[in-house]
Amino acid sequence: MEVLIQNNAEAGCLLGARIIARLVREMPDAVLGLATGRTPMQLYQELIRIHQNEGLDFSRVTTFNLDEYVGLPAAHEQSYRRFMHENLFRHINIDPQRTHVPDGTAADLQAECRDYERRIEGAGGIDLQLLGLGRNGHIGFNEPTGSLRSRTWIKILSEQTLKDNSAVFGDMAHMPRHAITMGVGTILEARRVLLLAYGPAKVRAVAEMIEGPLAAVCPASALQLHPRATIILDEAAAAALKYSDHYRWIDRHKLDWQKHGM
Ligand code: F6R
Repeated sequence: MEVLIQNNAEAGCLLGARIIARLVREMPDAVLGLATGRTPMQLYQELIRIHQNEGLDFSRVTTFNLDEYVGLPAAHEQSYRRFMHENLFRHINIDPQRTHVPDGTAADLQAECRDYERRIEGAGGIDLQLLGLGRNGHIGFNEPTGSLRSRTWIKILSEQTLKDNSAVFGDMAHMPRHAITMGVGTILEARRVLLLAYGPAKVRAVAEMIEGPLAAVCPASALQLHPRATIILDEAAAAALKYSDHYRWIDRHKLDWQKHGM
């Protein structure tokens, strides 16, 4: 794991956007795995800025989102399809046909899970998967104790996740209880992963993910197995790491070609 501790969330998002922009410049037909939630919003704003001011071209990029709530149609205000449209897709020159979000309204959800896996495979796999981190250590909607080899599947959202995400639904009663999500095994197959975590609410999950044992109680700890995982943190999220001096040391002593998650 490459652990990059930044002064604040803004610096983290700018760094994350630079890593993605560089990949898209080098590989114009890159396949990106995307996340929703509060954490990556500023990263998306920066990608939009780079597109508008520096001409970053998304016309050949393909995207696969991590997850979607079961039962929410694409047009629903809180659907992840809608989130991506509002926060990224409508501001850049991406071909809508190349953007994939699981269909949470599919009549046969199991078939949709299998089909999503087939679509990822058909696109040649994911070059870079962007991730946020749940307060309980989830990635995608892979909640604690789920299989670390799982493929795209239907998950029951944990009570913690309902609490964390319910504000935008008004209250918990109106929030879906299930989601369709890439599995941990699906995520681990991305050629590169880039996880962002900010703020004191993530401090325990961050410590367990990076320094805890590999364990299904913290699904994000599975990233310890990934050959190319970059973790971008702010100071607050990194506060409980025992080896933060070591991560900073490593970051300072990188060779040019190793710098900043290149
Ligand atoms: C979103 C996703 C989730 C979030 C996580 C953190 O597509 O898969 O794992 O990344 O719940 O959410 P925020 O960023 O809102 O704290």
